[in-house]
Amino acid sequence: MDNKNRPIGFFDSGVGGLSVMKEAIQVMPNENYIYFGDSKNAPYGVKSVEEVRDLTFKAVEFLLNKGVKGIAIACNTATSAAVADLRKIYPDLPLVGIEPALKPAVELNKDGNILIMATSMTLKEEKFNRLMNRYKDRASIIPVPCPGLVEFIEAGKLDGKEVEEYLFEKVNTYNGGKIASIVLGCTHYPFIKDTLVKIIGKDITIIDGGLGTAKELRRRLSEKNLLTESRENGTIEIINSSNKNEVIDLSYRLLNK
Ligand code: DGL
Repeated sequence: MDNKNRPIGFFDSGVGGLSVMKEAIQVMPNENYIYFGDSKNAPYGVKSVEEVRDLTFKAVEFLLNKGVKGIAIACNTATSAAVADLRKIYPDLPLVGIEPALKPAVELNKDGNILIMATSMTLKEEKFNRLMNRYKDRASIIPVPCPGLVEFIEAGKLDGKEVEEYLFEKVNTYNGGKIASIVLGCTHYPFIKDTLVKIIGKDITIIDGGLGTAKELRRRLSEKNLLTESRENGTIEIINSSNKNEVIDLSYRLLNK
């Protein structure tokens, strides 16, 4: 197959990375996509870094065996655990990761705290701490670990009392100070954005890194002259390690949400 017509691979610990692939489909509608979600092993955020690194390496190998021309690690947690090593192992592969979109939040220059919602691992890892150090003098940044939130989304629970109560408690802890914006630093979280808006109101800006990552992927593919020349809509294949029909159904539902 012509290299340009090979698919793009997407990977996440589960269904979350679909929020990023959705943006990529908007930006590059003529590309073919293969999405691999590792829901059987989700959540990653509470595992050890070594475990997440191994699972991510395996997923990348799986996608490469499927003939992908580039890969998006559409998971903040897997990115912080594995992307630096992956770049060393596959120096020629167009590879993008994702990290909490702190820069656009700081550049909004709004009065108040910036809350970064993410998994405990993302917030603990060096990658995020470097990012935070870069901006800590310009804004008040508060990391908000959200254990348990990925599980709601993996179960298809995007709204309702339980999710609302969870989010209310998280956000209320910071009620002491004004909230300027909330960064969704986990690719699962854009799927509960509507429920979050219901709780915090429309005045607080909610930011995620999906679109930025999709554009970066396009830039890296273009750099290697790997963008398709097809003018037809591309194909989408979703594979999930859990092998459960409900998870595949949920994946398509989220992609079309
Ligand atoms: N979507 C992953 C992320 O962006 C969730 C990690 C998890 O499975 O805990 O961090």
